[in-house]
Amino acid sequence: MSPISEHGAVLAIDQGTTNTKAVLVDPQGVVLATASAPAGLSLPRPGWAEQDADEIWASVLTAVSRCLAAAGSVEIAGLALSTQRESVAAWDRRTGKPVGPVIGWQDVRTAEWCETLPTSVSELARGRTGLRVDAMFSAPKINWLLSSLADLTDVCVGTIDSWLIWKLTGCREHLTEAGNASRTLLYDVLALDWSDELLAAFGVPGSVLPEVRASNAGFGVTSGVPGLRDGIPVVAVLADSHAAMYGQGCTEPGMIKATYGTGSSVMTPTAAFAPDQSALTSTLAWLTDEPLYALEGNIISSGAALAWTAGILGLPDVGELATLAATVPDAGGVTLVPAFSGLGAPHWDRNARATFTGMSNATTRAHLARASIDAVAHQICDITELTGTTPHCLRADGGATAADLLMQTQADLLGYPVEVANIPELSALGAAQLAHQTLNAPWPPANTPARTFTPSIDAPTRQHLRTTWSTALTAALAPGS
Ligand code: G3P
Repeated sequence: MSPISEHGAVLAIDQGTTNTKAVLVDPQGVVLATASAPAGLSLPRPGWAEQDADEIWASVLTAVSRCLAAAGSVEIAGLALSTQRESVAAWDRRTGKPVGPVIGWQDVRTAEWCETLPTSVSELARGRTGLRVDAMFSAPKINWLLSSLADLTDVCVGTIDSWLIWKLTGCREHLTEAGNASRTLLYDVLALDWSDELLAAFGVPGSVLPEVRASNAGFGVTSGVPGLRDGIPVVAVLADSHAAMYGQGCTEPGMIKATYGTGSSVMTPTAAFAPDQSALTSTLAWLTDEPLYALEGNIISSGAALAWTAGILGLPDVGELATLAATVPDAGGVTLVPAFSGLGAPHWDRNARATFTGMSNATTRAHLARASIDAVAHQICDITELTGTTPHCLRADGGATAADLLMQTQADLLGYPVEVANIPELSALGAAQLAHQTLNAPWPPANTPARTFTPSIDAPTRQHLRTTWSTALTAALAPGS
């Protein structure tokens, strides 16, 4: 793609599960303005998690208009998207309107159906996509959505990047990005195309799916978007967790990052696609000149566990939760296993249920708060210990990294330093970086960490805490898991 403007900014939109951020970034990587808007999530039944596609779009428009209002007059050279993964929208190509709810990535309504699929499908999926068959990924959700529709002639399906591209381009472009496609269980990450065999296995007609493009191949131009002129190119698109890895400059095997969002994603680049036989997944981080593959562990409930605990304790937000947790030196023997929608990597037990264990009559609200902080850090350790890498540090990003107590606990439990990114909106910044680089803009050397946390406990204490966690975890797993 040729440069459009050497001096224009990139407007990056980071669409996550519970909110949308808009971040305006200049060609030197300086953040000019940021804004956000909430996105609704409804939990109509246990295990179900739905969103409204129109409401997601409205949150994008609100975040963008707030960001542009904060920035004043700035020339926008291009757009960049970073989006929540696996969640699926369906819409009618004639009307442009959604034809069902967005089935969110946390939604496990298809868990039982997934268990009915033969082993041959699991093996095929693992070899082609690097993923395991699980209700978190898109294909079972697409199957469920399509099965409720009588006529598929004009139906379009896509992950959230695809829905936003559709809306940004005035309902013209039905496209998706390769890294997002790699999370659907339908995309062959070596052939870099939809897999006919997987489409058949999951009952998804290829006609409903978008065209897949490389992460910086261009995704059409804006048309009819309130607040934005027509003709702005959508330059780059990345899946949110992958965008954070890009922003962290985490591009070599041996480097590892953790994004602390609603869930958490721990990722480390691999030299080649290696469908891992353990409880982690292999995935396509991004596709530019070459594909970059990564090993990943997905934690289903991390920020969500903090938010849940804050709510139960009557606290307004996670910041207050961390403040309360810091009033006690430890969790007083209490352990929270936040299996609110079962457990993801490395346990993959959708029937596990959340537990608080180890409480006594001395347990206080502060101990419960502290246990929720510990739970997030322990879950990250469960993944890092499986990656086989011994990094010099864990690179951390995402909203919950604002809590110093969480980051210190993380370093303590890992036994090596945690370097926290100098911008909470790293997913947006990573997507903006790829867009600017595609537009041939200068970009400063790798992001420097703002805060470094080093371990402050000894190895026996660490081992004791990890063993206590493992015991509580085993109790939360469903019988026979
Ligand atoms: O895999 C799900 C992930 O992409 C969700 O991201 O930012 O909503 O926690 P977030």
